[in-house]
Amino acid sequence: MSILKTAVEKAQGAAMAVMEKVVEIAPDSLLPGGKPDPLIAAPGMLGQSISRLDGPQKVSGSAPFAAEFAMDGMVFAAIACSTIAKGRIAQIDVAEAERAPGVVLVMTHLNAPKLNPPPLFMTAAKAASGDSLPVMQDDRVAWNGQPIAIVLAETQEQADHAKSLIRVRYDHEHAATVFDVAKQHTRDGLFQGKPLQQEVGDAEKALAAAPVRVDATYTTPRHNHNAIELHAATLGWQGDDLVVHDCVQGVQHVSWSLAQVFGLKEEQVHVTSPFVGGGFGGKTLWQHQIIAAAASKIAKRPVRIMLSREGVFRLVGGRAPTEQRVRLGAQQDGRLEAILHTGVVAMTTHNQLPEPFVLPTQAAYASPAIRLDVQVADLDMTANTFMRAPGESVGTFALESAIDELAVELGIDPIELRLRNEPEKDPMNGRPFSSRRVVDAWRAGAERFGWGQRRATPGQWRDGEWLVGMGCAMSTYPYYRMPGGAARLTLARDGRARVEVAGHEMGMGTATVQTMVAAERLGLPMSQVTFAYGDSKLPGTVLAGGSQQSAAIGAAVSSACGALVEALLTLCDGDSPLHGLKADDVVCRDGGLCKVDDAQRRESYVDILARSKRDELCVEASAPPPLETQHWSMHSWGAMFCEVRVNAVTCEPRVSRFLGSFDCGRILNAKTARSQFRGGIIMGLGLALMEESQFDERSGRIMNPSLAEYHVPVHLDVPEIDVLWNDIPDPRTPMGARGIGEIGITGTGAAVANAIYNATGRRIRDLPITLDKLL
Ligand code: MOS
Repeated sequence: MSILKTAVEKAQGAAMAVMEKVVEIAPDSLLPGGKPDPLIAAPGMLGQSISRLDGPQKVSGSAPFAAEFAMDGMVFAAIACSTIAKGRIAQIDVAEAERAPGVVLVMTHLNAPKLNPPPLFMTAAKAASGDSLPVMQDDRVAWNGQPIAIVLAETQEQADHAKSLIRVRYDHEHAATVFDVAKQHTRDGLFQGKPLQQEVGDAEKALAAAPVRVDATYTTPRHNHNAIELHAATLGWQGDDLVVHDCVQGVQHVSWSLAQVFGLKEEQVHVTSPFVGGGFGGKTLWQHQIIAAAASKIAKRPVRIMLSREGVFRLVGGRAPTEQRVRLGAQQDGRLEAILHTGVVAMTTHNQLPEPFVLPTQAAYASPAIRLDVQVADLDMTANTFMRAPGESVGTFALESAIDELAVELGIDPIELRLRNEPEKDPMNGRPFSSRRVVDAWRAGAERFGWGQRRATPGQWRDGEWLVGMGCAMSTYPYYRMPGGAARLTLARDGRARVEVAGHEMGMGTATVQTMVAAERLGLPMSQVTFAYGDSKLPGTVLAGGSQQSAAIGAAVSSACGALVEALLTLCDGDSPLHGLKADDVVCRDGGLCKVDDAQRRESYVDILARSKRDELCVEASAPPPLETQHWSMHSWGAMFCEVRVNAVTCEPRVSRFLGSFDCGRILNAKTARSQFRGGIIMGLGLALMEESQFDERSGRIMNPSLAEYHVPVHLDVPEIDVLWNDIPDPRTPMGARGIGEIGITGTGAAVANAIYNATGRRIRDLPITLDKLL
């Protein structure tokens, strides 16, 4: 059996490798993106500043979030979590909790229904779970903070109180909680099934031969998710079917995954997620939705569950700590001969996302020899997970700090050093870039920021008590478009269009941008277009993650528009001025179809439907598979500029100015894009200066599970953030746009660290850069 399985896997692996090679060498014209999206040449309103369509709903409080739905007879939930890192529940006494006022149910592993283990993300197309452990099925404890009981009660206060009455006795087992010990025995890290050990050339040899070398180790701490909206769900059973109002980044992923857990058909689980108060990679399937749904089934009552802030720290994974070594070898003129980016990250055996910190180094600089290696050290802790730009956020801190160190070593301006190492093609796989104009971004940013005022020698610029410095770093995030995108398009007799995709609005402006794009494609004003999303019953498997949602939806809507044009043309009989035309002959314009080269031959949607006596016309189409990413090297780029002030007496670091200059293709909505970039940069300032989960290595417990002790930037920490972009469309992507959701956090940490070095002469290689490290 296992031999057969291995043979099948090998054959599949070989077939995939052949496919990849074929796609790589296929002519451009055969691939998605081979024929540029017509919106690139005629963008219309794309790029304008358009306010959020959901703004009024949010400001007035009428936008429903997951914990605001109400269900008849609903009860409230509280989850009790383990206080040991590993072992068994020897005894759990819930008698007093059960007797407490208002309590409807206390569920533990002793009375939980039988559940299948949740499908771990990236193990199947719609797998959504942050870990693969069985949920409340036995007495095992696998991390400090794992749920061990849920209380349902008539009010939230009653549930919280009853939870405090549960008594637990554990049999402790030895837990691996010390990173320095765990990293003595590592294993190879994989990302999306591919090894994170890669090499071109002979990097060690090239490094040894290089006349100038940098060799430095950078460390980044554990981070926890802190979206403003706490993880929450309001759910209930209707017979054997489950309805979940959730806050998630993948409605279809969560619906399918819950169906697997409860042994249901996918269509029996209906997940809605109309608004999400921030996701950042953390809003997927965690144990709370599963436990609440199981308890709801036993209690026969709908349940609202909202984790406390501490609950999010206990149940939901974050970013794991990394220790990265960067070695650079260069010629005296700055040309790189070798880049070695290696190191170790903490992970658990029940998930599979080692923080892939080498990703940004794959395509950053021209170098004949590059070696990348992520090793994994297993710890008994919450499964770490996606957290905004997993890999690139902390990887660019190390890489771009090291580039700055090399610039100091060589006495070359750090921007100039980067420009001298600009690659012509992808240095790892040799593919052409779909579009790479980061040099423009560097020049525009340097000019606007006033880089010329910077003193090359550290510690030269003083303003009273404050030492002032400037630093820069490159930012980058890959262009992804995941498979599964699909859209339904309905044109009504009154000429209005409805676009339906199982996408997500997490605050980034998706609903607004997608309405703009669909309106532009159909030749309709925005007021005539409705964009429906956030519901697992809608078409398309679309993840709001990997900064890919705009591309995934954009490609699907483009396909649906193509199908709509075909369908409309079949209605254009002999009486129509469009009779006999093919899809390629017409364009959507001014509320109808018209012949590309003869604007006189046109007919409005209203007329076409009226003549054919139709109330509506509905089409559904899938996006083509995302083969473009295997043919071109596709990435968003940026140049980050930071000015800091470090107090000469207290060593307090303060960011006084920040600028991000981006090369991310066509920007679709200037207003929402600017917010996206700024949000990412603000999170990057937190990464640079504040965020750190305090992990007690004796107990494996996170000791600062609150925003009082886990610091994120507040208004006073955030200076004016200037954002500009070159707006050069990427000819290979839908709308010419590349992702902008995550790039803002990348490069920011290094820009801050490099500015602090320039201000003080102190090179801090350990995040966050708190004042004690500068004393
Ligand atoms: Mo992002 S970490 O893919 O939400």
